[in-house]
This record gives sequence, C-alpha cells and structure tokens, in this order.
Amino acid sequence: MTNEQYYELIKPYEDASRMLLGRLELLNRNLYASRLEYGPIHNIQSRIKEKKSIEDKLRRLGLTDGVLNARDYLQDIAGIRMICYFVDDIYNMVSVLKKQSDLVIMKEKDYIASPKPNGYRSYHIVTGMPVYCLDTMEYFPVEVQFRTMSMDFWASMEHRICYKKSPEHREELEQEFRKYAGVLQEIEEQFEKYSDVSRKR
Ligand code: GTP
Ligand code: MG
Repeated sequence: MTNEQYYELIKPYEDASRMLLGRLELLNRNLYASRLEYGPIHNIQSRIKEKKSIEDKLRRLGLTDGVLNARDYLQDIAGIRMICYFVDDIYNMVSVLKKQSDLVIMKEKDYIASPKPNGYRSYHIVTGMPVYCLDTMEYFPVEVQFRTMSMDFWASMEHRICYKKSPEHREELEQEFRKYAGVLQEIEEQFEKYSDVSRKR
C-alpha cells in the first residue's frame, strides 16, 4: 500500500481510538471517584499500527498487503493499553465498558484467568466503536489490553528479550520467563491485599 492509502486507512481507526480513550478516561474519573480514593488506572498507552507492521502481519497471514485486507482481517490497527493497579480494577472496568450499549464486543480473551503457556497474562477485548461519517455509520475495532503493572512489566520485557531470539536460546529463556511470571504473580497477590485499603471508607 502507498503512504497515502495508509493515512487514509488509519483515519477512522484514529477516530475510534480517540472516542474509546475518552470513555475510558471518563470511567476512571467519574465512576470510581465515588468509591475510590484514586482511579483504577495507573496509565494509558495507545498506538496506531505502523504501515510496515500492518504489511508484515498481512503477509504472515498469507494475504496480500492491501488496504481491503487490512480492514477485513486486522483487528489491532488501533490499540489501547490500560495499566491498572489491581486485578479487580480490570474486571470492574471491563464489566462497566461492556454495559455501554452502543459499543459491540467483537472479541474477548481472559489471559488472567487462563494465562498463556509462556506465562503471558492480560485481559484483551476488541471493541467495535461506531464511527459516523455524514449519513453512514460503521464499526471500527479497537483492541484494548488491560494489565496490572506487573503484567505489563513482564510482557514488555518478554517482548523485548524473547522476540526474534534464535530457537536454541528460546527454550531456556522461555523457562526463565515462566518462572518470572510466577514470581511476579506472587508479588501482585501480596499487593492485592491492599486493594481494599485504597477504597474510601
Ligand atoms: P495477534 O496476531 O498477535 O494479534 O494474536 P491474536 O489475534 O491471537 O490475539 P491475542 O489476543 O492472543 O494477542 C494480541 C496481542 O497481545 C499481541 O499483539 C501482543 O501485543 C499481546 N500478546 C499476546 N501474547 C503475548 C505474549 O506471549 N507476549 C507478549 N509480550 N505479548 C503478547
Ligand atoms: Mg496483535
């Protein structure tokens, strides 16, 4: 795809992402202001998939790297990462978000209840956001990954260190990372006991 086609492609995804970010920030401020001393969110990151990553992923899927395939087959062109303090916060945010009736949940994966074999934990939902254009409306997917700080720490390091490593190093590394995942989860569980303390009395 050309640069022009790429910029045209990502426009509605940018709109969808901005709208969802606004809602998530509002949830953080309003909904929890009544119950908690602080909001559930530590920080929010968002990104639009780069042209090269879109093309590489389409090729990995065995598809040609055109705009139509990107629209039809990729659900992570727009991505948001919500880093929360506690696991409870994640489930609360997800359940409140799912009550917003104008959004559609296109995909949902709970890698917290069922971590991946390598130790990856996170709650993923792909939200279809209605984007209006004159007299038409279309849903555009935004992938949201909810993580605690320790889940994010692990995933960021794993991505940085294990990604693209040769297979002979990989096995050893994977074993180490499974161990780190266990240790981090233990620490996270220790912190969980303070989650009530941060609530308003
Ligand atoms: P993708 O083709 O990667 O999007 O996989 P998928 O459609 O099966 O989606 P899944 O929900 O499993 O993963 C989507 C995203 O979650 C990835 O693009 C990563 O950002 C993140 N992710 C999933 N698994 C891992 C993992 O093992 N390690 C790390 N660091 N990130 C992961
Ligand atoms: Mg992805």
